[in-house]
Amino acid sequence: MSMMTPAVEAAASRRAPPERIRVDIDERGYDILVGAGLLTDAATYASLPADAVAVVVSNTTVAPLYAERVASCLRGRFRAVGLVSLQDGESHKAWPAVEQIFDALLATGADRHAWLFALGGGVVGDLTGFAAACYMRGIAYVQLPTTLLAQVDSSVGGKTAINHPLGKNLIGAFHQPRLVVADLETLATLPQRELVAGLAEVIKVGAAADAAFFDWIEANLDRMLGRDMQALALAVGKSCTLKAEVVRRDEKEVGLRAILNFGHTFGHAIEAATGFGAWLHGEAVGCGMVLAADLSRRLGGLDANDAARVAALVERAGLPVRLPAVAAERLAELMLHDKKAEGGVPRFVLLDALGRARVAAVHEHLVLDVLRDGGAAP
Ligand code: NAD
Ligand code: GLY
Repeated sequence: MSMMTPAVEAAASRRAPPERIRVDIDERGYDILVGAGLLTDAATYASLPADAVAVVVSNTTVAPLYAERVASCLRGRFRAVGLVSLQDGESHKAWPAVEQIFDALLATGADRHAWLFALGGGVVGDLTGFAAACYMRGIAYVQLPTTLLAQVDSSVGGKTAINHPLGKNLIGAFHQPRLVVADLETLATLPQRELVAGLAEVIKVGAAADAAFFDWIEANLDRMLGRDMQALALAVGKSCTLKAEVVRRDEKEVGLRAILNFGHTFGHAIEAATGFGAWLHGEAVGCGMVLAADLSRRLGGLDANDAARVAALVERAGLPVRLPAVAAERLAELMLHDKKAEGGVPRFVLLDALGRARVAAVHEHLVLDVLRDGGAAP
């Protein structure tokens, strides 16, 4: 996304067309576009209505990098284009930010036909989607994910939410976007720690849903860590394809979709215990996957070699594999607020094998054993 010199323009015109993945859920279906240079290409938005009001939602880190160029591209199509820049960080995934989005919509003259554009990582995406679900009882929105984590996971599937001090994502709605645009060029400005956090969700989808993809991640991890664009394009495309299929089969998480929460019961408790933001979401999920693999092994599902492969891959990615200094009992208590908990009993995504996951309640004493051992590789 550099300024377009003639040479860059020529290169852009030779760019391959984006990969197009369909989230096929009847009248709420939509495309995910994966490619380079998409955010500022007018063709990206060609299917959107002309002459509506648009508001781009971003944050104080991402807006200076990309928002003006996106807004000027949208001005070719929309009647009025507003921009709101939220404070950056997980701790701001809360009501005041939602109110700011409503204020910007009203200031731009947005009616029920207005469109929101979420330009940023998962925090901006979740906030914007939630505001879109609420404003005038629901307006359209587009996801423009700029982190690896948002491109491979959070921008797809219509889960929107804000946090509550007692737990992650407790206030929210299912509200599908109309389009997802994963522009791989935005990953060039992403800090390495954030890239690594995104790899946690790539590992997650391989571990929970596709053993061959897990093998591919093991073999190509170094390329992704080195930002090889071909490897990252493949990781984003494959993760989105797998997620689109899960969402097609279980949009509202009645059953199957819960497998996409592998590592998250532990991970959400780590995030809540450490005060949203100290650990990145992907880091908490990384450690959570090591614990969940260990729990699966102790329950006799996953063999020790495969549990060790999960732990080794998480560690090699540069993600934490040991718990923070928080009492096991405190983490166990926080898990009771997890959305998968039923009747006061937390439920976990367990692996029977790599690529094969299920959800089950687990007796507290076993969970405490895993927490006390703290994510040690089996
Ligand atoms: P994030 O949104 O906080 O972004 C990480 C950091 O990178 C931020 O500081 C951000 O400003 C910055 N950033 C974003 N894009 C950048 C770029 N291109 N260049 C430079 N800096 C950039 O974090 P995240 O990891 O993207 O998302 C985590 C959030 O996503 C959590 O709140 C989590 O709960 C949520 N999530 C939601 C779903 C879902 O299905 N809705 C799934 C997974 C995670
Ligand atoms: N990130 C899990 C899901 O979208 O269901």
